[in-house]
Amino acid sequence: MITPDLLTRAVETLRHGGVIALPTETVYGLAANCEDELAVRRVFAIKGRPATHPLIVHVARAEALSSWARHVPEDAWRLASAFWPGPLTLVLPRTARATDAVTGGQDTVALRVPQHPVALAVLDALGGGVAAPSANRFGRVSPTTAEHVRADLGDEVDLILDGGPCTVGVESTIVDLSSKEPAVLRPGGLAVEEIERVLGRQVPVRTSSTVRVSGSLASHYAPRAGVVLSEPADVVARVEALRAHGRSVGVLGPPSLTLPQGVPRYDVPEDPAGAARALYTRLREADLQGHDVLVACLPRAEGLGIAVRDRLARAAAPRPPGT
Ligand code: TXA
Ligand code: MG
Repeated sequence: MITPDLLTRAVETLRHGGVIALPTETVYGLAANCEDELAVRRVFAIKGRPATHPLIVHVARAEALSSWARHVPEDAWRLASAFWPGPLTLVLPRTARATDAVTGGQDTVALRVPQHPVALAVLDALGGGVAAPSANRFGRVSPTTAEHVRADLGDEVDLILDGGPCTVGVESTIVDLSSKEPAVLRPGGLAVEEIERVLGRQVPVRTSSTVRVSGSLASHYAPRAGVVLSEPADVVARVEALRAHGRSVGVLGPPSLTLPQGVPRYDVPEDPAGAARALYTRLREADLQGHDVLVACLPRAEGLGIAVRDRLARAAAPRPPGT
C-alpha cells in the first residue's frame, strides 16, 4: 500500500538528492531528480551503467515537452496525445534543462509520461523531471515487481515504492523524432503498428543505430543461464538435443506446449501482450532454478511480440566475458 505519507517521503527523498525505485506500467525505474547532477550520477553508479548511456526523463504531462525539447514537431504532439500516459518514449532535440549528465552529452533528450498512478503522483508532486532507467544492474533482466528491485539493488536505493506488478512488462517503445524521418530505436510496450496508425505512415525499426541505446547492445536483458531461441514447432527437438548433451534445460513457453517428462515449463502465454507481461518474471524464476540452458519459445512477430522477440534475442546473444 502506498500511503500519502510514503508518497511525501518519496518526493522529499528526490528533492534532497536521493534515489528511489518507482513503479511504472512497463518496468520499475531507478529514479532521481533530473536536475540534480549528483543524484543522476548515483543512478549510473548503482546500475553500473556507463555514463555515456543516456537516461529517459519522465514527466507528469505532455505539456512539459516544450520545456525539455527546443523543437516539438507535430508528430510528437500527435503521438503524445494518442499514447501518453503510456509506454512510449520520444527522442527530441533538447533544451538546456536536459543536462549532459542525463543525456550522456547528446544533443537530444528522451521523454516519457508513464502510466502508473504512483509514478504520476510522484512526478506531479515533484513538479519536475525524473531520470529513471530500469531498476536493474546494467545488462541484467529488468524488474517488473518491487521484489525484483529488492533482490537486485536492496539497500543501495533510499526507498522502494511497491506499486504491484507492472501491467505491460517490457520497456517503453522509443521513437526518435529528432531527425527528418521518425524511427523506432527500441521496440517496446507500445506496438509499432499503433504508432504507424497515428502517424499515417510506416516507421522503420532501427535498433542498431549509432545512438548509444544501452537496450540495443546485443547482449542485454541477460539471465545467468544460456538462452536458446526456438519457434514453437522446434521446441521439443531443441530440448531433446540439449538433454542428449547432458545439459539441464527449462522451457519458457505457453501451456499449449507438450514437453518431454521432467522438463519444467515457465509459462509465457502465447498472446503477445500476455507474453510481454510475463517475460521478465519468468526469466528470473527460471534462472533461479540454476538450469544450464533455457529454451525460449518465440511469440508471433506482431504487436508486443516484436518487443518480446527483441528482448529474447538479446538475452540469447553472446555475452562479454565476466558477465
Ligand atoms: O519503460 C521504460 O522506458 C523504462 C521505465 C522505467 O520508464 N525505462 C527504461 O530506461 O527502460 P533505460 O535507461 O533502461 O532505457 C532507456 C533507453 C536506453 O536504451 C537509452 O540509451 C535510451 O533510452 N535513450 C535515452 N536517451 C536517449 C537519446 N537521447 N537518444 C536515444 N536513446 C536514448
Ligand atoms: Mg534497462
